[in-house]
Amino acid sequence: MTLMFILNSNDSTPLYKQLYNQIRAHVLSGKLPANSRLPSVRDLAAELSTSRNTIEGAYQELYAEGYLYSKQRSGYFVSALQQDASPLAPPPPRQRGRQPAPATRYVYDFHPARLDPQSFPAPLWRKCFLDALRASTGDLTQYGEGQGDWRLRSLLQDYLERSRGVSCAPEQIVICPGLQQSLDIVAHLLQAQHMAVAVEDPGYHLPRAVFHNHGFNVVPVPVKPDGLDLAALRASGCSVVYVTPSHQLPLGYVMPVANRLQLIDWADSGGKQIIEDDYDSELRYLGKPIPSLQGLRPLGNIVYLGTFSKVLSPALRLSYLVLPQALLSAYRDRFRDYFPTVSLLEQRTMVQFMEQGHWERHVRRMRILYKKKHDLLLQVIARHFGPGVKVVGQGAGLHVVLQLPDGNPGEAEILRRASLEGIHLFPFSATCASGESAVTRLLVGFGGMNAVEIEQGVELLSRLCD
Ligand SMILES: Cc1ncc(COP(=O)(O)O)c(C=O)c1O
Repeated sequence: MTLMFILNSNDSTPLYKQLYNQIRAHVLSGKLPANSRLPSVRDLAAELSTSRNTIEGAYQELYAEGYLYSKQRSGYFVSALQQDASPLAPPPPRQRGRQPAPATRYVYDFHPARLDPQSFPAPLWRKCFLDALRASTGDLTQYGEGQGDWRLRSLLQDYLERSRGVSCAPEQIVICPGLQQSLDIVAHLLQAQHMAVAVEDPGYHLPRAVFHNHGFNVVPVPVKPDGLDLAALRASGCSVVYVTPSHQLPLGYVMPVANRLQLIDWADSGGKQIIEDDYDSELRYLGKPIPSLQGLRPLGNIVYLGTFSKVLSPALRLSYLVLPQALLSAYRDRFRDYFPTVSLLEQRTMVQFMEQGHWERHVRRMRILYKKKHDLLLQVIARHFGPGVKVVGQGAGLHVVLQLPDGNPGEAEILRRASLEGIHLFPFSATCASGESAVTRLLVGFGGMNAVEIEQGVELLSRLCD
């Protein structure tokens, strides 16, 4: 292998990351062919006049992400990606013993929940973690507050008020490890008085599963560009509804204000409950941010849910819910004996991250980063798919939906072809209550891909849709 790597110690990117980036780029471009052997850690460290830790750090990360595989006593080798892009291809030979095989990697990953792989602010997070550790040592011998760290809840209350118009007290906020647990809590609180929950159709599959597992009757209600079908909601007999009003998942619609107000009136009429999932509110690229439903009726029957998964990291498992005053005493009764479910250190790290101003800077940075990807994606789609395709839900979030013209091969066939080409698509039909969509739609996430991957991936995808 004669490729050259250049490490620049004046660059703010850590050396191991620079090397990681260069090797990854060579693997993706095919300059480093499948099964070629990388230089030993010792040789490459000597060649680049750097420490073995730097080389080991880059190799380990590439290994963990599946770009490399290792053979006992022989070193690291390039995994088969572009050269044989099929994710169904046999995995590289596994090292016998402890390490698990690397997960399947796709060459073009259009999954809508992917974030930019370089975007996590690791050095800042490390610093905030150490600051949190120093400031919290006395508290680390205790469990912490069940509802979540008080300071984090206070910071969130302030942030949500400024950015989303949410009006609440820190007492109403519960820190959770993700939507699933937030919905678990809500389901526990509602199941004494409610039996049926309406969910958006098409919609996110997780709420359907959580409410179903809690014994609720789950009723799909159609979503249209002008909002949730309120006549269908009324006819459903449900007294709870789960909605994503600021950016409907998956169609990306913004619920118009008339529909919002009617929905709030519906909730006020006889003890109904709205669950508002504001999952990616930070990522709006066109127009003004859409204020939350909760902010329109702070004393209404609205549970507000938010997450750090879309802008910071889904791996942290850090989210929050805001309970309406009316559910607070039920929450306290029911969960009095429960312990916190999110690590105190992680919560305190987030406190440092917010108090030091990193969170809001990070949000701004991510909005710029994803807007660029979003705009590029739209240009590339227009170039390769042409005027026959309809793009739905652009202007926010981490994905758009493509509605294909008649005469396309259908979702199942496109997904089959895509998988053979190393393209990862999350099936749109999985968001439909019936499991199928009347027209062929593709969920095209762009968060995890760089500009080259967006260009190449969309071009390839457009050919598979003919
Ligand atoms: C509609 C919706 N809500 C919330 C989330 C985030 O969930 P969590 O906080 O569990 O990562 C997602 C993630 O993809 C989502 O699609």
